[in-house]
Amino acid sequence: MSHNCTLIPGDGIGPEVAQATVRVLEATGVDIRWRRAELNEAIILEAGKTLPQYLLDSLHETRVGLKGPVTTPVAGGFQSVNVALRKALDLFANVRPVRTLPGIKTRFSDVQIDMVIFRENTEDLYSGLEHEIVKDVVTSLKVITRTASERIARYAFHYAKRNGRRQVTAIHKANIMKLADGLFLRCCRETAAQFPDIQYKELIVDNASMQLVIRPESFDILLLPNLYGDIVSDLAAGLVGGLGIVPGANMGETHAVFEAVHGSAPDIAGQGKANPTALMLSAVMLLIHLGETNAANTLQGAIEKVYREGKHLTGDVGGSASTEEFTEAVIRTIKG
Ligand code: NAI
Repeated sequence: MSHNCTLIPGDGIGPEVAQATVRVLEATGVDIRWRRAELNEAIILEAGKTLPQYLLDSLHETRVGLKGPVTTPVAGGFQSVNVALRKALDLFANVRPVRTLPGIKTRFSDVQIDMVIFRENTEDLYSGLEHEIVKDVVTSLKVITRTASERIARYAFHYAKRNGRRQVTAIHKANIMKLADGLFLRCCRETAAQFPDIQYKELIVDNASMQLVIRPESFDILLLPNLYGDIVSDLAAGLVGGLGIVPGANMGETHAVFEAVHGSAPDIAGQGKANPTALMLSAVMLLIHLGETNAANTLQGAIEKVYREGKHLTGDVGGSASTEEFTEAVIRTIKG
């Protein structure tokens, strides 16, 4: 069976890791027809629009995207493409599995980390509603709704149930933001009550950050509003070896866009040394979404084997291989 899929290479290291990922997907033998949609800072500035129509048209047609990172200007400039895309397609659940890979030396190599982060993806402080009331006084609105909170909570618990996970931890700051985080937490509790087989816990976000560093292996599923989810994702990535290896998916009712946690990494762009593992593992999630379970297992197994052997790893995880050498090693393993 063939699948149509939108490919958004992005900018920075995006095109390098996207190209590597398309090659390993090809090697699995799955027939994917790519619709390539360019999106980068230059195009956005020229179009004067964060999301060009051809990109939305393509995603409405294919319903599935594989996306590289896109640079967002800091403190000014255009709105984040990523935030705009998640809102436009109502990709309400950001799912980020954080797992120890074999063969990487980290401070936590002696424990097995296996957690999945469920981050609400459409509201919170990412509403982009900011204004300067008077000179040098700025407000930024944190929007929390029952609809979005219940939706992400249900998604996380359903995932836990389907995948035999034991525990969901809701992470919040409801001691301070009693109304906003209070509503999020209430929705998590009400949803938890419908899943009595799954243990439910709550942690305040500052304590959760410390616990994650002290006992990362004790976490299973993490359920968070948008901003905490964003920050905790990078923290969690650091526990297993960095941003180069942590995948993600933006899931909605009708569309899904798969992308790594990392950004466009301008510091290493164009040098051929970016680690494509995070986008390749995002592609494993894409294959599962497409129902291509065998290919997903093959790709996941090949990546793990290359890590176990440890001979073709990129610099960020302690090796000296280029993006190309790592990719070739994964392809050889798939074909071997
Ligand atoms: P970043 O994730 O791009 O980089 C942080 C650090 O991790 C850098 O030292 C980088 O070299 C390293 N790194 C990231 N991915 C790597 C990989 N695959 N292999 C090896 N090393 C890797 O975060 P930063 O620098 O804060 O953001 C850069 C730009 O990316 C910003 O414009 C930001 O807005 C954008 N961004 C875009 C995202 C997206 O499109 N989904 C997500 C996060 C940031």
